[in-house]
Amino acid sequence: MAFNLSELLESRRGENFELHARYLNPQLTKVVTTIGFDRFYERGEGCYLYDDAGRKYLDLLSGFGVFALGRAHPVVKAALRDALDADLANMVQLDCALLTGLLAEQLVKRSPAGIERVVFTNSGAEAVEAAIKFARAATGRKRLLYWSHAYHGLTMGALALNGSREFRGGFGPVMPETCEVAFGDVEALAKELRRGDVAALIVEPIQGKGVYELDEARWREVQAAVHGAGALLICDEVQTGLGRTGRFFAFEHFALTPDIITVSKALSGGYVPVGAMLASDTIVRSVYSSMSRAMVHSTTFKGNQLAMVAGLATLSVFDDEAVVEHAAAMGERWRERLGELAARREYLEQVRGRGQMIGLAFGPPTSRAGRLRWRTLERARPALFSQTLVVPLFQRYRILTQVAADNLNVIKLLPPLIAGETEVDLFVDALDELLAGAEKSSAWVRDFGVTMARGALRPRRGAGRARVGG
Ligand SMILES: Cc1ncc(COP(=O)(O)O)c(C=O)c1O
Repeated sequence: MAFNLSELLESRRGENFELHARYLNPQLTKVVTTIGFDRFYERGEGCYLYDDAGRKYLDLLSGFGVFALGRAHPVVKAALRDALDADLANMVQLDCALLTGLLAEQLVKRSPAGIERVVFTNSGAEAVEAAIKFARAATGRKRLLYWSHAYHGLTMGALALNGSREFRGGFGPVMPETCEVAFGDVEALAKELRRGDVAALIVEPIQGKGVYELDEARWREVQAAVHGAGALLICDEVQTGLGRTGRFFAFEHFALTPDIITVSKALSGGYVPVGAMLASDTIVRSVYSSMSRAMVHSTTFKGNQLAMVAGLATLSVFDDEAVVEHAAAMGERWRERLGELAARREYLEQVRGRGQMIGLAFGPPTSRAGRLRWRTLERARPALFSQTLVVPLFQRYRILTQVAADNLNVIKLLPPLIAGETEVDLFVDALDELLAGAEKSSAWVRDFGVTMARGALRPRRGAGRARVGG
C-alpha cells in the first residue's frame, strides 16, 4: 500500500508516548508525563499549538527559538512546496548550487563589514564545531576560552565549551585545551590571554542559560583584550541571532565586531535543520587553503536545497513583515508590563533580556509566611519555585514556558518573533494571577504536588526527577 500520511496519523493516533517510552529516550517520556505536559499535539499555527481535543496552547518556547515566524508561515510553506514541485537537483555535491550561494549572499549582506563567507551546517552545535576548527586553523593556536554558564551545544567540541557541569557528567574526557572564564571577568580573561596560546573566546552576546548580559563598556573591554592578544572573538548567535533580541544579531546591541558568527535555529523558519558559520575571507581560506583542502571541513547535508529555500523565504519574510523591528517593539511591551508586575508582586525580582528573549528571575518574598514557603520549597529542591509556576502556567492557562537552567529560579520566554500584544498580555495576566495566589497561601504548591503525583502515577510512564526545560 502506498504511504499515506493522514492514514498513518489516524491509525496510530495516541500511541506517541508509548512509542517514545519503548524506542526513544525513556527518561524524557517520564519527565513530560510527570509534569503533566503529555499532550498529543495535532498541529501548530502562528504562536499556538492545538491538541487532539482541540485545545489551544500559547507556545512561548517556539521549539527553543526556531519558530521566529510562528508555526506554519504561509510564505515558507509555499516556498517549500514550490521547491519540492521543482524537483531541484539537490546535493549533487560536486557542484555549486545557486540557492546555496543566494542564502550565503543574504547572510553576508546582513552581517558587519569583514564577514564575507559562509560555511553551512545542519545545526547550531555543528556551526560551533566549525567555529572551533576555523579559529584554530586561522590562528595556529589551540586554546578556546568560554564563559561560565555558557551553552554552545552538546557535540563533543561544543560540550568542552559548556559552562554547566551537569551536561558533561559521564562523557569525559572532553576536548582538551579549553578554559572557562567567569562571565565578564576581564582580568581573568586577560590572564588567560597572556599565555599567547588562545585561538578564540566564544560568547553568547546574551547568555541563554539564565538570560544574562554584560553592559556595552564591559563588552568593549572584553573585545579589546581578545583582539589585543591576537585571538578571535566568536559570537554564538544560534539563539540570539536573526532578530530574537530586537536586532538582527544581538552583538549589535553592544557594538561588537566578531571575527566569527554562528547561526542556526530560526534560519529556516523551523522547517529544515540548518546552521551556518560566518567569517572573513582570510579565516575561511585558512582552512580551504588549496584545492586539495577543498573538502577538509564538510558535511553531506550542507547547503541542502530545502534548507536553503526555507532560509531564503524566511529572510524575505523578515524584510516584508519587519520582523526584527516588531521583536524590538514587543521587547518594550514585555519590559513595560513585566516591570510593572515586578514592582507590585512578591517573588518576581528581575526582568531580563531584550526583544523576544525574556528571563524572569524569582527570589524570596518579604513577608514572613512567604519566606517560610520559599525556604521549604528551595530545601526540597533548589530552584523549585520557578517550576511550581511553569507547571500551572501550562495546566491552568495552557501556556508553554521553560525554566532557564538547572538550579536557577529563572523562567525563560522565547516566543515566536511575531508574537504581539495579545500574547504578552495573556502571559503577564496569567503570571499575575499565579503570583497573587502564591502571595496569599501555599495552595499553588499543593496543586503543583498533585500534578506531579498524578503524572508520576500514570501507567507505563513512571515517575522521574523532572526538570522542566533546559
Ligand atoms: C547559543 C547556542 N549555541 C549552540 C546551540 C546548539 O544548537 P543545536 O541544538 O542546534 O545543536 C544552542 C542551542 O540551544 C544555543 O543556544
